[in-house]
Order: sequence, then structure tokens, then C-alpha cells
Amino acid sequence: MERMGPQSVLLLPSTPTYIRNNDVEHEYRPDSDLYYLTGFREPSSLVALVPGHAEHPFVVYLRARDPARELWDGARVGLDGARTMFGADASRDIGDIDSTLADLLLDRRRLYYALGRDRAMDDRVLAALANARRRARRGRIAPTEIVEPSTILHELRWHKDEAELAAMQRAADISAQAFERAFAVRQPGMYEYEIEAELRGCFRRLGSERPAYEPIVASGPNACTLHYVQNDRRMESGDLVLVDAGAESGGYASDVTRTFPVNGRFSPAQRRVYDAVLRAQIAAIAAVRPGSTLTEVHKVAVRSLTESMVELGLLAGSLDELIEREDYKRYYMHGTSHWLGMDVHDVGREWIDGAPRALEPGCVLTVEPGLYIRADDGAAPAEYRGIGVRIEDDVVVTSNEPYVLTAKIPKEPSALER
Ligand code: GLY
Ligand code: MN
Ligand code: MN
Repeated sequence: MERMGPQSVLLLPSTPTYIRNNDVEHEYRPDSDLYYLTGFREPSSLVALVPGHAEHPFVVYLRARDPARELWDGARVGLDGARTMFGADASRDIGDIDSTLADLLLDRRRLYYALGRDRAMDDRVLAALANARRRARRGRIAPTEIVEPSTILHELRWHKDEAELAAMQRAADISAQAFERAFAVRQPGMYEYEIEAELRGCFRRLGSERPAYEPIVASGPNACTLHYVQNDRRMESGDLVLVDAGAESGGYASDVTRTFPVNGRFSPAQRRVYDAVLRAQIAAIAAVRPGSTLTEVHKVAVRSLTESMVELGLLAGSLDELIEREDYKRYYMHGTSHWLGMDVHDVGREWIDGAPRALEPGCVLTVEPGLYIRADDGAAPAEYRGIGVRIEDDVVVTSNEPYVLTAKIPKEPSALER
């Protein structure tokens, strides 16, 4: 509210629910912004912040208690609960939104509202705005500006405080245990989805709400499909399996990738590719420090990987030219990092005023280089075809050394084989 300034108002609706079929809905996952500000996670709600308002700077619209509905859908916090449990100054029935929202907009110059996310909600907010403008006269005003709330909210979310880092560590620790389980059960003849089931089961047993994204279990040539989620191939002896999976805990994500041999032993060719990715990942993590940028971290990974591509005989030529011409993209085509937080691809600007943003203590990013040599790549040495490797950890920027939240999960090849 301090950052919004006086004479402003924020309207933050919950994310819509989606019908899967008939009266069955897709799983509801609370909106990260709303949960970040309030801890409140019911659907069909809207939070309003009205800085400086004499009676109610913090208003929650939500579903009123309804024993008949609660019998089916579970308990609701209710209007009283919004005040007693969540500290709202005022609470209102979400059903009254159309008749009361305009009142919150009166005497405010600036409306913080994310247009374009939910068209039905846009209509209701714009109707309230029109209503407020009609009533603005004789000294009363209505908003003349609509501002994207992420300009404030996503910058707040970009910096993680101690409690948030603790939640992220919990999510990472749950992922660590799930990976231990995946390492323990993997064996030739198993289907990829059996590993997925172990991961999902482990997440839930340890109290995670859900995976932070659809788990990827990509064995053999599937590892070269970056967002492979079919997970239905039978794994063979001699395959590597790339597992990219992370638990969500307390609303915060983890995002981990390990690549390991299904039969417990890397082949010499697999090991060479693996070592190349691990070298790049360790170098890139070392580049995570205040003042550096995502672009810098990526450059470190690209340089190391491109060197290895030459050593492996995947590319030939001068290192600088291969990087300059982006020839490395044939085998490393994605970015090295993204922000991590409540969302797996978390919010916060990557560029500010035309330049990559400097890393600061308290921001969290992934470091996830890879090498992907497609099975049908006739130009690659035959022994490397069909090998895909990615190694991904979650890294906190501190004023000193980078802090790796997922450091417990083995990635040294000898440890993986053990
Ligand atoms: N699992 C998605 C990602 O690594 O970005
Ligand atoms: Mn990932
Ligand atoms: Mn990632």
C-alpha cells in the first residue's frame, strides 16, 4: 500500500475455476499474487487494498458461509473468518461485487488492476469504473488511470524474505527425498510413469500440495524433447533417464533435474556428455553473485558447453565464432535460468531499461544447462545420438557464495551410480 501511494486502489481477483467436464472442475490452484498478499486461498474471491481508507484499507470479497454448499465442497472461511483469521478490515459477499465495487473506486485516482487475464472479471471491473465515473462530481473523483499491479507486486515477490526462503527450502527438501526414491526404484523394464508415480506419491506423503509443474520423466531419446510429459515409455538397460520434477510446498516451487543411468552405470559416451553438462552447470552456479545477470550466467554455461561440443566432435571451428553464430543452439537451445518462487517460472523483470537486471541477494533462480543430441542427428558422432542430459538446481543469490537449495540431491556421476 505504501508503494501504491494515496488515492489509489488495488483490485486483485482470485484465479477463475475451469470446468473439466459437466460439474467436475480442474484442480484449483490459488492465484500466487493473492496468496502472497493474504495467505487466503479460496476461489471466487477478490482482495481490495485501499491505502489510507479510514475504515477499511483491506477488504476481502469471498463466498458467504452456506451449509448446503459446504456439505459438498468443504468448509468456507466465511465473512467473519476473513476478518478474524486473515485480518481483513471489512469482508463482503462475493455475490455483492457488482453493487459495491464502484464505492471502492470513488475518490481514488489510480486503479491497480490486471486487465486481460480474466475477461469476465474485466467486464465487472470496467462496469464498476464506469459507475464510479458517473458518480464523480462535486469534488468527488474516480480513477483516471489503470495500472498493472505487477509493477509493484511482482517486484516484491522477486525478493524472497527469510520465511519465503524457508518455504523454498522445504519444497527443495521434499524434492530431494523424491529423487532419492526415484534413484532407488529405477530399473530396466520399468515404465517412465512408474517413476512419475513415485515422485508424486513422495511429494504428497511429505505434505507437498502438488508438483510445481508436470513432472518430466524422459528416458532414452525422449530426453531430447524438452517438455516431454507423456512419460509412457518402457525404460531399457543402457538408457539414461532425465527426470525434471519439483514439489510445491506452502505455495512455493522447487524445480530440479537429474539425469541418471537406468541400469546404474553410465556408458563411456553418456559419461562424456554428462561430465560436459556438469562442468557447465558448476561454472554457471559459480557465476551467480550479486551484480551478475541471468545473461552472464547463461554466457558462462554456453561457453563451457560449446567448448565441450568441440571436444566431443559435435561442432568444429573457433570457439568465439561458434558462439557468435549461435551454432551451439543445435545442441543447447534453451536458456540457462529463470526466476523461481511461488511460480516455477516466477515473476520479476529480467531486463530493466534495456539492460539485463543485476542479481541481488534474496532473489532465486534455476541453473539448468543441458546437451541434447537428437537420435536422428546424422551430423553427430553415432555414439552420442539419442543422448539428452540436463542438470538443474535452485540457487539463492546471497551477498557471498551462491546458496544451492537443492544441494542435497546427488549429481556427481559416481554418486549417481552408487
Ligand atoms: N521444469 C521446467 C523448467 O525447468 O523450466
Ligand atoms: Mn525443471
Ligand atoms: Mn527450470
